[in-house]
Formats: sequence, structure tokens, C-alpha cells
Amino acid sequence: MISVYNTPRELHIAAAWLWIRAALKEGDGLVGVATGTTTTPIHQMVARIYAAAPFDTRAIQLCAVDDYTGIEPGHEASCSERVRRQLVKPLNLGEDQALLPDGFTGHDAPGRYEAEINQRGGIRLQMLGLGEDGHIGFNYPGTSMGSGAFLALLPQSTKDTLHRLYGLPMDQMPSHGLTLGIRSILMSQRIVIAVTGARKAAIVREAILGPVTEEVPASALQLHRDVAWLLDKEAASKL
Ligand code: GLP
Repeated sequence: MISVYNTPRELHIAAAWLWIRAALKEGDGLVGVATGTTTTPIHQMVARIYAAAPFDTRAIQLCAVDDYTGIEPGHEASCSERVRRQLVKPLNLGEDQALLPDGFTGHDAPGRYEAEINQRGGIRLQMLGLGEDGHIGFNYPGTSMGSGAFLALLPQSTKDTLHRLYGLPMDQMPSHGLTLGIRSILMSQRIVIAVTGARKAAIVREAILGPVTEEVPASALQLHRDVAWLLDKEAASKL
């Protein structure tokens, strides 16, 4: 399904309600989040809705698609920390309601993280953002579509973004990130991918209308039966 919104703000509101509805559903399973400039305002909208009309958050169990390894705990560049600041704290969630990658260290961390997700009933809805090169999570072009969670080598473009947005010095830059793999993402019951801006219009077109190829990781979403693409007009302008 593809939904096109006139403005990013309309998209943020729609995505926030989708996420809330999935998060409040009774039963097992987690709601997955991704951090980035696209999803931050969606999380802020969730928090605003909660502040205006508090809902019962006791059933919420969330997890995150990825995080850098080796960033000091509590640093604002850490994806897990951003999830805490954007959702866990504003929604008053308990520690046990958020399964976050920074709680897993060591070479077997990805496998243990994924096993814990599965133990909690898997992911009922995974919210994603899209990189300009077609990446989802830290699944960059060339990543195998058969992979479960793994430690991905971070490209220079991601390090540049971390430097630009959070002022992380290049000599303290993480080299890897823990990410759910394409296979793990495709095992989610539902996937919602939010994309805004003209810069991503070409890659949106490739991911939705192009061939399924490891060169465009998001094209793997064509293999899933319940994916919602939420696009603003600019991101949808090349469809
Ligand atoms: C980052 C993250 C992804 C995120 C994507 C898009 O590298 N690892 O989880 O969704 O890139 O980010 P943005 O929305 O800031 O363009």
C-alpha cells in the first residue's frame, strides 16, 4: 500500500496513529522503531498525542531496528538513547518495556538481540526510515537479503551524518552498528516505511518499482505482503 500526504506533518500524524494503534493492540509482540530525521517527528507526535490524551501504555513493548556499537551509554547520538528520550520517557514506559540494542554487547550480541525479540513474540509492526542509497536499518547496498541481525560495517556517509548532527569527532566514530537484517525485518507482521523529501524521490521509485536487488536493500520490501509506504508529495514525485 502506498499513501501520499500533502505535507510531512500530515504524514507524521498518520504514522503516529498507525504506530499507536499497533502498540496498544492486545497480545504478544513488539513494535519496532527506527531513529533518524524522518522518524523523530513521528515519535514526537506520538508523545504529543499521549500528553494531550494519555492512553494506557502498559501493553507497549518496543524494540529498535539498529544502533551504533561502542558509543558511550547515554550519548545523544546513540539510537537506543534517542528511543529512550523520544518514546520511553515521554510515554512513561518501564525499563522492561523497551528492548534496545545497547543492552547487548559482544560478538554474539546480534543473535542474542534477535532471539530476545522472537522470545517476546516477534515484531508486530516495524517502522522504518529510508536512506538515500536505499538502506534500511544498517542494511546498506550489497547486504545479503538472507541475513538475520548482524554487525554491519558503517560507511563513511553514516559517519559524516553522525559528525554533522551530533558533533561526534571522527576519531571517536563507531566502526560498526548492530542491525536487524533484511530477513529479520521481513519477518515482522507489518512494515511501515516513512519517507519525506525530494532527495529521496529517486530511491523511492527504485525501491517500489525497480527490481528486487541487494543493491537497493529497501526493494526487499516488495517480498512482504503487508508493507505501507507513507510518502509526502515530494518523496512520491517520481512514482
Ligand atoms: C539511518 C538509520 C536508519 C534510518 C535511515 C534514514 O542510517 N540507520 O534506521 O531510518 O538512516 O535516516 P533519515 O530519516 O535521517 O534520512
